[in-house]
Amino acid sequence: MIRSVVKGIGSYLPERILSNEELSKTVETSDVWIRERTGIGQRHIAAEGQCTSDLGLEAAKVALKDAGMTADDIDLIVVATTTPDYTFPATATIIQNLLGIKHGAAFDLQAVCSGFIYGVNVVDSLLRTGTAKNALLIGAETFSRILDWEDRTTCVLFGDGAGAVVLSAEEGGESGVLNSFIRSNGEHRELLYVDGGPSKTQTVGHVRMIGNQVFKHAVKDIAGAMQQCAEGAGIPISDIDWFVPHQANQRILNGVAKRLKLDPAQVISTVEFHANTSAASVPLAMDAAVKDGRIKRGDLVMLEAFGGGFTWGASLLRY
Ligand code: UT7
Repeated sequence: MIRSVVKGIGSYLPERILSNEELSKTVETSDVWIRERTGIGQRHIAAEGQCTSDLGLEAAKVALKDAGMTADDIDLIVVATTTPDYTFPATATIIQNLLGIKHGAAFDLQAVCSGFIYGVNVVDSLLRTGTAKNALLIGAETFSRILDWEDRTTCVLFGDGAGAVVLSAEEGGESGVLNSFIRSNGEHRELLYVDGGPSKTQTVGHVRMIGNQVFKHAVKDIAGAMQQCAEGAGIPISDIDWFVPHQANQRILNGVAKRLKLDPAQVISTVEFHANTSAASVPLAMDAAVKDGRIKRGDLVMLEAFGGGFTWGASLLRY
């Protein structure tokens, strides 16, 4: 049996840190409100001229090094992003070129905050069917570019960053992606969307969200996805070592943990330091937990996310 094994992981955060305190000088909010309602303490913001491809490239280089591979080994690049450098070409082909790769295929995947989970599913399928051997899956975002910095209900929540994994097709081992579950439902578009786009308005637009309604869907749908994903793999939730959630709000993480009776110590949280980096948040959080020694080789890890669309899903892997 062929499995998609995580051979390397890496991440990158832009240098500039924007604290809640600093933000409260330009918009009517406070450190106390943001921390109490979301758990967020700060976010990283890309420098002027620094694009999603730049962030993704840095994360990819770290992941390649961690995998002990060079760019030449890679024959597939998938970039999960909602904030591409351009409408086209795909940010993935820009990164492919920056890495000096002239073979294989590269494309972007758009499932907003669930992009990385969708990416695991898609890349896993392409590896298992023999389309590619070694893939770079990158979640990279410059959400700061699509925020309305005068709208306190959204601008305090997001940040920029990138995370990447090298996934390789390997035969016969225990490690790798065990199961993935993805879902979407377009009927709640108006609860979380961007009010612009090339076809509709010929503008980029800004993020709009009715946060408290999104919150309720997120907790219910994430918990359901995790249950379905574990069941599909024939593994009880209680056997899973680590949960790496999308980092939108600490209260969502707590709500899901309570619903599924998880030990909060098993739930990786970086929301305080990264805020919501959309498709980058899961690989950023996973990389943090690998680097600090919590997630070890052989551990069972569940990834999950929920985002605009609505889209949501979960992936279970043995690291
Ligand atoms: O990644 C995609 C998925 N996204 C999410 O999952 C986000 C889900 N939603 C959330 O995380 C939370 O709903 C928020 C953090 C966005 C909001 O927290 P909440 O506890 O649901 O607050 P609320 O929207 O019900 O607003 C409560 C009050 C309102 O004032 P009134 O109407 O009670 O007077 C808001 O106007 O808080 C006010 N408010 C703020 N106050 C200070 C909203 N934003 C702010 C702010 N600073 N930044």
